[in-house]
Amino acid sequence: MSKYVYPPVASRIKGLIHAGRFIKNPIGIIDGALKEYGSTYTFFMGGVQKAILTTDPKAVRHVLQKHHKTYEKSAIVTDILGKYVGHGLLTATGDYWLRQRRLIQPGFQKQRIESLRLLMQTEVDRCMKGWEQKAKSKQPFDAYEEMNQLTFRIVASTLFSTSLEEHGLLHLSELISTLQDFIIREVRQPYKRWWFKISGKIRQHLEMASGAREVIRAVIQDRKREQNKPDDLLTMLLESVYEDTGEGMDDEQLIDECLILFVAGHETSANALSWMIYLLGKHPDEMRRIKAASEPTRSVLLRNVIYETLRLYPPGWVVDRISLTVDQVLTYTLPVDTMWMIYIRGMHRNPSYWEVPDNFVPDRWSDPHLNKEAYMPFGAGPRLCIGEHFAMMEMELILSDILRLWDFQLLAEVVHEKPLVTLRPDEPILISIRSASR
Ligand code: HEM
Repeated sequence: MSKYVYPPVASRIKGLIHAGRFIKNPIGIIDGALKEYGSTYTFFMGGVQKAILTTDPKAVRHVLQKHHKTYEKSAIVTDILGKYVGHGLLTATGDYWLRQRRLIQPGFQKQRIESLRLLMQTEVDRCMKGWEQKAKSKQPFDAYEEMNQLTFRIVASTLFSTSLEEHGLLHLSELISTLQDFIIREVRQPYKRWWFKISGKIRQHLEMASGAREVIRAVIQDRKREQNKPDDLLTMLLESVYEDTGEGMDDEQLIDECLILFVAGHETSANALSWMIYLLGKHPDEMRRIKAASEPTRSVLLRNVIYETLRLYPPGWVVDRISLTVDQVLTYTLPVDTMWMIYIRGMHRNPSYWEVPDNFVPDRWSDPHLNKEAYMPFGAGPRLCIGEHFAMMEMELILSDILRLWDFQLLAEVVHEKPLVTLRPDEPILISIRSASR
């Protein structure tokens, strides 16, 4: 008899039958399995490797927080992502990650991030100015496209204090989005990796990654020559020194971390903001309430919308870990190398923890007794998102200005989720806007 005790095992045959659908969009299949087997179940990844999926916050905290030392990020994403975007905070593991985290963390504390507000606001103003033209032309447009560009511009300006038009950064934005699309294909279609290799696609994308690094290298070299350094994230990265050596990062490390901030920091916020626009478009009463409110109520209502959107559509919808030792989690005993899929989206909709879990109810966040145990949009434990305060300030600024300046109407009927590395909308979030009636 096996000494290991696994959670209920999902049918391997069903898994194989649905493999095609699973690759395209796993959410429906996972949600079906959760109903059948409960909040923690075993499945066969790719039909072979046993893995555990959970939406149980106790199991999640065990893996991400309480016993984090015996769990590591899996190679699936870190190796493929790392191959193209280098070994920065998001992709690094072990001692190297810890050293980098200690070095960079102080720059992302709430007070430090506050100093970036003006840079962010300048980019928001520029975007809203562009929307004046859209309002005049009455042409519907895709809010996701707009949010994606805006959040990229915000990372560029808070990192380098320059607009996207300077330093060839527009090219960087194209390179990064092409790379991200390819990375997703490599993660999702492992059976095509041989083809990507022999057709030269991998080489071609590695060259793009080198191109992206060169753009960043040039910015760093220019900055090192500058006398009066601006108060931005690059200056923070350049001035941070390791506790043990008193020295800073070398150029390759700096490039790694800058590239990672672009990748981790723009699409996540863009997705969240797009889903906010979608949900408010679907719930015009909520929108009207915010527009009619005055401070401080307005800020509370805005925050509630952000929290509730991150609950329903968490951009980091799944987080993975692999165990480094045999471990007992809940009532199960699992071997070393057990793969964990922490299904954040499912935990946020787990009916044991949330009332009407699939409904958009921003007001639940005003309840002082709300149980937030099953809420982790920014992850948990030592690898918690370093950009949490950055993202919250950014989303508040953007949502607040959109609602202050515009009345918008959602033209898209139903927008489905496209779960890639982040949870994107699968169809355009078409809206039409006109100046806000006062
Ligand atoms: C709504 C916006 C965002 C969401 C929902 C989000 C979510 C997450 C989650 C769930 C993780 C943990 C992944 C894991 O444990 O495996 C993470 C890590 C990370 N995030 Fe975010 N993120 C957001 C915005 C940002 C922004 C704006 C930045 C940077 C400017 C950023 C930078 C990072 C980095 C560098 C990591 C890796 C941290 C580490 O492992 O030490 N994120 N994020």
